[in-house]
Order: sequence, then C-alpha cells, then structure tokens
Amino acid sequence: MQTLRLYANDAGSIEQAARIIRSGGLVACPTETVYGLGANALDVAAVQKIFAAKERPLWDPLIVHVSSREMLKSLTMQLPAQFENLFSTFMPGPLTLVVSKQATVPDVVTAGRNTVAVRFPAHPVAQRLIAASGLPIAAPSANWFQHVSPTTAEHVLADLDGRIEAVLDGGPCPIGVESTVLDLTVAVPRILRQGAVTAEQLKQVLGDVVVINPVSRGQKGLQSPGMMSRHYAPRTNVVLSQGRETELVEVVQKLSHQKVGVLLPSGWNIRAAAIFDWGRWGDWAALASRLYAGLRWLDDLELELVVAPLPPEEALGGVIKERLLKASGREILPGRMDFGKG
Ligand code: TXA
Ligand code: MG
Repeated sequence: MQTLRLYANDAGSIEQAARIIRSGGLVACPTETVYGLGANALDVAAVQKIFAAKERPLWDPLIVHVSSREMLKSLTMQLPAQFENLFSTFMPGPLTLVVSKQATVPDVVTAGRNTVAVRFPAHPVAQRLIAASGLPIAAPSANWFQHVSPTTAEHVLADLDGRIEAVLDGGPCPIGVESTVLDLTVAVPRILRQGAVTAEQLKQVLGDVVVINPVSRGQKGLQSPGMMSRHYAPRTNVVLSQGRETELVEVVQKLSHQKVGVLLPSGWNIRAAAIFDWGRWGDWAALASRLYAGLRWLDDLELELVVAPLPPEEALGGVIKERLLKASGREILPGRMDFGKG
C-alpha cells in the first residue's frame, strides 16, 4: 500500500482524509499530544486494521476521539457527577475519560470491556478531521506497539509507511506526551496513565484522585504484568542519572568506553558520541515536547546507550520521569542509580 502524505494546510486535504476515514481506511493525524492512528470507531473492520498496522494485541483498548460534547454523549451512558466540571475545565484538551459505554461502541474498540475511553482533542487538525468525517475516531498513538510515540509525520512514516492509507501532516505536536487517562467508573477517580494533565490539576477539580501504577493493573492475556513496562521504549538501552549536571557527567564518564548519546539540557557541558539539545532544564513543558523526538533521533544513530537526567516530579517533569523510567525498563527509581541495563 502507498501511504499518502497530506498536508493539513492544503485545500481539500482534510476532506480527502475524512473520505478515507468514512470508507474504512486508516489516517494518522496530529493531536496536541502525539500523532494518532485513526479509523471510524463504529466500523469493526476499520478498527481491526489499526491493530494489524500497529501489531497491537487485541486486549489493549483504544481511545475514541470526538469533536463535540454531543458526539461524546452518543458513545457513553450515565456520565458521573464529576463529568461537567472536568469537561468545562479540561476539554477540549489532553484528558481521556474512561466511562460506561453505549452498545453502539464495538467490542473491538474497548477490548470487550463495558467502558470506553473518550477524548476531545484540542488540536484544530484533529477537530476538523473528526468533524469532516462526521464520525467518532478510534485512535491509539501512531507507532508500532510499545515503540516511542510519534510527534511528527516523519515519526509516523518511520513506523507505518506502507501500512496505512494516509498521514495528515500538521507539523510537530505541541505537548509531546500522551493524554492523561482517568477512570471515572469508580467512586474515587483513578489515573490509569499519567499524562499532560497532571494529578495536581485534577485534584484541584476533583478533590481526590488516585494514581495507579499501570504495571500493577493485571492485564488478562499478559504472560507477565511486567510486559507493560516495555512501553515507550527505543531499541537502544536507556540509562538514567539524577537530574543534576554533575551527576549526569559522572554517569556518562563511567560509561565512556561505550558509544553514548545524551538527552542534554541546554547549557550543560558534556562529551559524548552524540548529543540531543533537549531544552532548558526546568522548562518541563519544553522538555516534554521534545522528549520523544530526542529518543527517536538518538535511537537512529546506532549508539550503545542513551543517557538522560531524570526531572523532579513537578508539573510535566513527573510525566517525563515516568516515561523515561519506562523507556529504561525501570518502574521504581532505586535509592542509588546503578548503571546496568534495567
Ligand atoms: O494522547 C493520547 O492519548 C494519544 C492521542 C492519539 O490521543 N493516544 C494514545 O492512545 O496514547 P494509546 O492507545 O497509545 O493509549 C491509550 C491508553 C492505553 O493505555 C489503553 O490501555 C487505555 O488508554 N485505555 C483505552 N481504553 C480503555 C478502557 N476502556 N479502560 C481502561 N483503559 C483504557
Ligand atoms: Mg501508545
């Protein structure tokens, strides 16, 4: 299959992409978080193609993207009391809500669950594509299963060229890490995946919220629950240091017999085989927006190791930290870092 590259600013490109969605094809599309791989959420055969293109196991359910509150309501039942506040504060935006589903949402989308994950993206290109299709769009991140999520059309093509009908190029994604997945089916809402809306922001609206470690979420069909920790992984081993220049330098020096690439905060000084200029340490939003681009860029350089400093759990720093721990195969930060493979 030849994958079309459509430019979101070109006249007619959104209509063309919407026609592909309506006829059961796959279109990758930018959102404010990462690129999604979209299909008509109400078409079982189209949704099955998403799983095939990504080589994603059928037990992992998809997020359904909507372009209005009405469309969201057409997929869901009994929205809980917290919904109105969450909707008016965070939507459209990088928050995904898990709620009970209508029978119209096919089992393939929800992996047979009676809940559906719904998201109203803030990105204008995603909104226009959903509205032009007139359909809710099921979309996981547009990468191979467990690979680093894509934040540009080039990243999408690197993983999926020839496997999908089209990619709608809308430039780099502004946030660069995935949406927060919040389960509203329980008395105290639970964060199933940390993301662009932080736990602190949610606490201000909800009062109380619990953060679940996804690895402890027993997945039916998983050989070992630890498999979940392979998410967001580049091919190259990732080693982490504490988030200070001196400690990063120390780690990189200890590993200098190997070909090392570094995700390096601007202005920090280090010698290594490859350096990705990550952005200003402390500007967590800027660092989040370039995290996956940096991991992918370094991953293509045939290095032996990638080293990155770990941000503190402060605003989006906490999300970067969680994604880096997953990329390195670690879940819990040990008191003292060791330098082997996680
Ligand atoms: O930012 C994002 O959320 C991006 C963009 C494209 O919207 N999408 C994304 O999708 O990251 P994906 O498929 O890579 O991650 C969706 C997460 C998975 O961890 C999945 O298990 C969870 O949401 N999920 C989906 N439906 C669920 C449900 N009914 N119950 C619990 N978890 C669900
Ligand atoms: Mg994903």
